[in-house]
Amino acid sequence: MNVLVIHGPNLNMLGTREPEVYGKTTLEDINVMLAEEARGMGVELKTFQSNVEGDLVTAIQQARGWADAIIINPAAYTHTSVAIRDAVAAVGVPTIEVHLSNVYSREAFRHHSHIAPVAAGQIAGFGKDSYRLALIAAKGLETS
Ligand code: DQA
Repeated sequence: MNVLVIHGPNLNMLGTREPEVYGKTTLEDINVMLAEEARGMGVELKTFQSNVEGDLVTAIQQARGWADAIIINPAAYTHTSVAIRDAVAAVGVPTIEVHLSNVYSREAFRHHSHIAPVAAGQIAGFGKDSYRLALIAAKGLETS
């Protein structure tokens, strides 16, 4: 099984960015953890990060034909991007939306996701374990 993990804007700053909200784990730590988990599950994993909306759209489009599932933390674009939503809908690759923080316990503008209606599901609020749980969910999609 092939899984593409996409990290959106400002997630390259994890570790130093608002650690009281997002923790002290870096993006590199998350990617290493995911790579180790994936290896144990027999999953082929690729990771990608961009701060640019169009580059995220392109990464989603290019996943078609390779990825059996996408795990995406669209970060702030979750709440604004019709383009990312349309890309997820267009490629037809099952997509799991992830957030480190519990967006529903934060500001009202974070309560709406453009991505959730076209996602297979959403995991939020468990810090770096949100990604680990998403990988388990992705693996589960293979057999469901
Ligand atoms: C986030 C939540 C978003 O609201 C925020 O804009 C982010 C990170 C999270 O992982 O908790 O950048 O997606």
